[in-house]
Amino acid sequence: MKKTVIIDTDPGIDDAIAIFLALTSEKLDVKLITTTAGNLPVEKVTSNALKLVHLTGKKGIEIAKGARKPLIKTLFTAEEFHGENGLGGVELPEGNQKESRYHAVEAMKDLISNSKEKVHIVAIGPLTNVASLIIAYPNILNRIEQLSIMGGAYEGGNATPTAEFNMYVDPEAAQIVFNSGIPIALFGLDVTHKAVLFQEDIEKIRGIGNRVSDAAAGMLDFYTKGRTNGMPMHDACAVAYLINPDLFTFIPCNVQVETKGEFTYGQTIIDKNRLSDRPINAKAAFEVDREELASMIYRSLSSF
Ligand code: RIB
Ligand code: CA
Repeated sequence: MKKTVIIDTDPGIDDAIAIFLALTSEKLDVKLITTTAGNLPVEKVTSNALKLVHLTGKKGIEIAKGARKPLIKTLFTAEEFHGENGLGGVELPEGNQKESRYHAVEAMKDLISNSKEKVHIVAIGPLTNVASLIIAYPNILNRIEQLSIMGGAYEGGNATPTAEFNMYVDPEAAQIVFNSGIPIALFGLDVTHKAVLFQEDIEKIRGIGNRVSDAAAGMLDFYTKGRTNGMPMHDACAVAYLINPDLFTFIPCNVQVETKGEFTYGQTIIDKNRLSDRPINAKAAFEVDREELASMIYRSLSSF
């Protein structure tokens, strides 16, 4: 039985790889892609989502635009990592598909309410849409099988010294999500920094020679610029888990998100050693089979 999947995303180069991986898996049925402001403003990431799906040739996937800003703070974007167009300067053709006439949260609610199967949500951007769904429609949350979230870190950060980007953009939303009671698999920097593609992996992708792999290679060239120790496939982890959970090793823990700290705003407090009396509300991944993940991405891109 295929998993019914919603991808909430801010494409974004690593989001693009994650979307390609999801749309080529025989284990996943991606019904809806929702967009949120994050790497770039929501108009741009929505245009990118439409172009990425068009590039794959996959049909029947609704694409709904969502949050244009975080719940409370002003938007913080990441053009320096993803390029001004969000895809590393790779220009993709426009398709005919238009964005849904429904807001992302409404589209999520409708899909989750009407789905016979419980729905998996892959959240690979700031959690503004997911938190808004939780606030607006508490009665459907039991129809969500699990949230597979890319974000946070037990140690360190990439937006600030203590905060990972997705959590830092909207900490208030993240705190709502982690305390919603929905089962959560979390892929923070501790594991995504091990989930890297090396230059030889990118050269293998470049050698595939189809329209999607060519675009992916071009995006990865931009994303990798200047890095020598491999390029983290942050968002692909949250998708790969749904395809093959055995790729990852998890620790059950309580996760909270700092929303008041002057220097720690957006930090995820991942209590992996159970030092607090707070109840377990997530499982956080700390190890990954990097070789197999790289192979999965290669096989996905080769299938177009
Ligand atoms: O910290 C990595 C996350 O921030 C990824 O989702 C990447 O796309 C950016 O959104
Ligand atoms: Ca992302």
